[in-house]
Amino acid sequence: MKAVILAGGKGTRLRPLTIYTPKPIVPVVNRPFLEYQIEVLKRAGVTDIAISLSYQPDKIEHFWGDGAELGVRLSYLTEAIPLGTGGAYRFAADGCETATVVVNGDILTDIDLAEIIRTHKERKAIATLTLTRVEDTSRYGLVELDPEGKVVRFLEKPKPEEAAKIGVNTINAGIYILEPEVLALAPKGENRSFETQIMPEIIERGMPFFGHVIEQNYWSDIGTPATYLEANLDLLSGKIRGFELAENTGSEIAAGASVDDVSRLAEDCTVKPGAEIRSSVLGRGVLVEERAVIENSVIWPHTRIAAGAVIRDAVVGRSCHIGRHASVGKGAILGDKTQLTDYTRV
Ligand code: GDD
Ligand code: MG
Repeated sequence: MKAVILAGGKGTRLRPLTIYTPKPIVPVVNRPFLEYQIEVLKRAGVTDIAISLSYQPDKIEHFWGDGAELGVRLSYLTEAIPLGTGGAYRFAADGCETATVVVNGDILTDIDLAEIIRTHKERKAIATLTLTRVEDTSRYGLVELDPEGKVVRFLEKPKPEEAAKIGVNTINAGIYILEPEVLALAPKGENRSFETQIMPEIIERGMPFFGHVIEQNYWSDIGTPATYLEANLDLLSGKIRGFELAENTGSEIAAGASVDDVSRLAEDCTVKPGAEIRSSVLGRGVLVEERAVIENSVIWPHTRIAAGAVIRDAVVGRSCHIGRHASVGKGAILGDKTQLTDYTRV
């Protein structure tokens, strides 16, 4: 079985982090994000993976090449103009004679994909959607199932009052198993949306279309700053299972500094005496000076946090300079190369 990872969006909601770094390689606990998806696919025996791009493709291809180091076969497909989620699938899976796994390129999950593929086959489905439960369905694709698990409604980003009327909390988790029959619903070279066009059409045509609700596993769309930070912290705290995090090696941590057990530091970091790091991720080459405090935060590579600065519940981009005694607080997202003067508060 082949997989297509849809990674052609611009990542606008993750700005400023995605100005220089395309969303698929945004680091999550110091690993480019898509590696977590590749691992989930690989565990299910899906190793032929096409990454569907339309934005900064060279940066991404350069990262993994043919995928040999990850133990998979990667190919890259770049649309001349964005074709939408469904059009991109047709472009990437054209001519494919077996089922394809299609994955939204911003989903962090520890699902057992093999089990979903198994149920898809047992039910002889043409399409299977993975679903998860959320409180507020209005940011997602709301999916209603009948008692047999058949999809009877797909409504993308419903208005809150519309969603309330329907009254279900199951949403599209962005992972589909699709038989080649679905390709015909996305005419070659045309822009098509899975969410607003193809899924409703599958329902209309009465094709065997099922939902598979994931009840126990972790699931998050990391496409907003808040969920991006949360996903990092959830990996640190062990809420997401099955991924090994790199050990803290190759950094210089002063005797008088304190780094808790869950924090992860990439190589070449320096932590000076009196500094404290709690539940945080530091990218390669980060310098934390005397008595600085970093808590529940993600710091990208080569940033310097000067003496006495405090960073809490925030994301700080690459090569920033946070001045002495500056304070960066809840929800702050600093883009690459941000310079904060001493004592600044954000
Ligand atoms: N190749 C390609 N071409 N990829 C695209 C295109 C395109 O034209 N447009 C979007 N994508 C990719 C994005 O990069 C992203 O990985 C994925 O498709 C989904 O797009 P988002 O922009 O992140 O959509 P969303 O988060 O608002 O909603 C989608 O995901 C939700 C789950 O997180 C929908 O599929 C919802 O139904 C779903 O609930
Ligand atoms: Mg998304």
